[in-house]
Amino acid sequence: MPNILMLPGDGIGPEVCHQAQKIIDFFNQNHKTDFHTETDLIGGAAYDKFKTPLTDETIKKAQSTDAILLGAVGAPKYDNVERQARPEAGLLKIRKELDLFANLRPAITFKPLIQASSLKPEIIEDLDILILRELTGGVYFGEPRGMQTYEGVTRCIDTQAYTAQEIIRLATLGFELAKLRNNQVHSVEKANVMETGKFWRDQVTKLHEKQFHTTTLHHMYADNCAMQLVKNPKQFDVIITDNLFGDLLSDAAAMCTGSLGMLPSASLGSKNNNKQHALYEPVHGSAPDIAGKNLANPLATLLSLAMMLKYSFEMPELANLLTQAINQTLDNNIRTADIMSQNCKQVSTEQMGDAVIQQMQAIQK
Ligand code: IPM
Ligand code: MN
Repeated sequence: MPNILMLPGDGIGPEVCHQAQKIIDFFNQNHKTDFHTETDLIGGAAYDKFKTPLTDETIKKAQSTDAILLGAVGAPKYDNVERQARPEAGLLKIRKELDLFANLRPAITFKPLIQASSLKPEIIEDLDILILRELTGGVYFGEPRGMQTYEGVTRCIDTQAYTAQEIIRLATLGFELAKLRNNQVHSVEKANVMETGKFWRDQVTKLHEKQFHTTTLHHMYADNCAMQLVKNPKQFDVIITDNLFGDLLSDAAAMCTGSLGMLPSASLGSKNNNKQHALYEPVHGSAPDIAGKNLANPLATLLSLAMMLKYSFEMPELANLLTQAINQTLDNNIRTADIMSQNCKQVSTEQMGDAVIQQMQAIQK
């Protein structure tokens, strides 16, 4: 019996996760699956109850489950809470505790939503980029960090650090994923300025020569990559990059598609005896302004569930069924408020979930 741990979190997290639960129930009733779900707290929701954004109990559950679906974390009311107790710290902690080093962030254009992008349609039509962001190293976790006072001068430090092994495991996955796509990898850093950037480039070059020379490899500086993403995003297939650059570039790439509310992500750990920790979450945030109003777009969460079906449960047929139903729903001009446009029908979060289920039923007939 596959187990899924639901961590809805804050803001719109619970509403969008509830739509995913409806889809899971639908599969259990109609597709002979036997998913078992359990729900727990993360982020502000956990802080309110336990004064910590992620308890040891929840970490234990996360370690023993087969896959995790996370909604979103964060709300303005925690802005003045100390950093270690903030909702975001819960997210960083679960990534680190489960060693979820590989963050897959696809940036895909949905044809019916092409007008929502700030870029010209011909620039983004059929866009399909996969950003692979390193997620458990770099400046997010490097030591030392914090305040230091030396000879009367106080300064604040963050540290960017990478081991060869951290770079190689991410790049290996990047090359493997590229082989299943257009077989092109852009490795992105700032080797012109940073020691870790130079080290990153050397490690990726060596790995490419040794194991993946049939894949096309380009090296690109991160600032240029940001520019190229906006200028000509279709030149990219797979982008591999560090934690901080990946954070920035994946937001930029997401916005090229015009639909941040549509994009899913997967964070994967290493495979051990056929077991792999995996967390799936929409790329959008907790959107506190519309939380609890039944207005949020649940599609990024449903697409994250589709990624879970594909990567954690090896159920590509169900992943495709769900993805196809989502596309069909958009083709039928059904929209939540964030992606609403002329001549479309605006629906609520719940109604969008129901529309996708209806489409899955229609496809099967
Ligand atoms: C993301 C978010 C997080 C990050 C925050 C919420 C800690 O921006 O997942 O991209 O910076 O990694
Ligand atoms: Mn981010």
